[in-house]
Amino acid sequence: MMPAELVCFEEKCRARYPITEVIYNCPQCGGLLEAAYDPPEQSALMLKRIWRERRTSNAPLDQSGVWRYRELIPFLSTYNCVVTLREGNTPLLESRQAAQYGGLDRLVFKHQGFNPTGSFKDNGMTCGAAQALRLGMTRVACVSTGNTSASMAAYASAAGLQPIIFIPHGNISYGKLAQALEYGARTLQVEANFDQILALVRKLAERLGIYLLNSINPFRIEGQKTIMAELLDQREWRAPDWIVLPGGNLGNTSAFGKALREMKELGLIDRLPRLAVIQAEGSAPFYELMRHRRRTRLPAVEHPETLATAIKIGDPVSWPKALHEVTTSEGVVEKVSEQEIADAKAVIGRSGIGCEPASAATLAGIRKLTAAGIMAADSDVVAVLTGHVLKDPDYIYRYHTGELKAPDGSPIASHLGNQPLVVQNDADAIARIIGS
Ligand code: F0G
Repeated sequence: MMPAELVCFEEKCRARYPITEVIYNCPQCGGLLEAAYDPPEQSALMLKRIWRERRTSNAPLDQSGVWRYRELIPFLSTYNCVVTLREGNTPLLESRQAAQYGGLDRLVFKHQGFNPTGSFKDNGMTCGAAQALRLGMTRVACVSTGNTSASMAAYASAAGLQPIIFIPHGNISYGKLAQALEYGARTLQVEANFDQILALVRKLAERLGIYLLNSINPFRIEGQKTIMAELLDQREWRAPDWIVLPGGNLGNTSAFGKALREMKELGLIDRLPRLAVIQAEGSAPFYELMRHRRRTRLPAVEHPETLATAIKIGDPVSWPKALHEVTTSEGVVEKVSEQEIADAKAVIGRSGIGCEPASAATLAGIRKLTAAGIMAADSDVVAVLTGHVLKDPDYIYRYHTGELKAPDGSPIASHLGNQPLVVQNDADAIARIIGS
């Protein structure tokens, strides 16, 4: 069997490198890299059976919702460098309120916020950390809008690696910053935006011999593929019509598309779901790229803006992969306003589910896509909620108390606001309020 390899994603190049090479871009053409393997020996039916059986196992590797599907991500030669916090294993949750709001008969969320550090980043990070250990690295770094850093801090510390994180000063939520500190990461708040810091960190990583764990790292993408594997396993391998997800640096879009293509090639599913990627209006370079069909260059946004700080990215590195995946799946890219994100988020909250702002872009996007007739009301749709409701409590409080303001200072109406009431310590007065 062909050993795992790193392959340049650029069709014109396709240069191949050993899987243990410490590179993030193709040394020949600068293109993105991806992991490539021969197909597994087992049939699709066998794989499905093995994965289902592992759900009842007590072995840590089988309990992980990532490593359970290890036949889809066979880049390691042994599994003794794997550190798992039992990532993945996230539920499918149906919401009638959200379906109605989105103009659909039914809507199911795959809630990645149920991960150990509260976001989908854990699926990729267990793989990135394993590769770092396998390469003999001692320090790992990332630039992050918050969730990657929280996740990397946890996995690096669990693996005995030193985590160093770079975040845009004042532009990540306290929940995420707090996690990085608690999990023991050296935390550097830089006076620059995500895109500028990524350029800086890439230089530093090379100079200081630090392993980079941003989503440009192809092993992170491998781990995030298992979100799709688990989703289909949970659906008895019935592919939905649509998979809707928020787009920031576009690592997830790349991972989902690769996973779905590979699973189709292996006969695990019989058709490709369409990907719908939703961006925030003030940070929507991928939307603009698709709209103008300028297939050669991404129109980067120099000063990206959105309160959904997780997706406040103007120059997403994975856009060539994401473009390929959206095109191959006959997908779409939509953008949504701050008001639309805020209201959609409150609807997801009222369903008892909850999520962070970036995740709610999915429902806001669905509402637009159904209104435009692009997504039919009776479509089978899964929206991926990428982060936990408690990641950004400040946003929630401001929305419900009518204090939320868009980045340009304009107020966001709290259409579904839910103000806390200050009351006297007086049973009669309280009874009157509740009774009314
Ligand atoms: N949703 C959440 C909650 C995120 O944290 C991110 C990315 C995205 C969506 C977008 O995913 O980049 O794969 O398109 N957060 C990164 C971070 C950039 O640093 O935590 P993407």
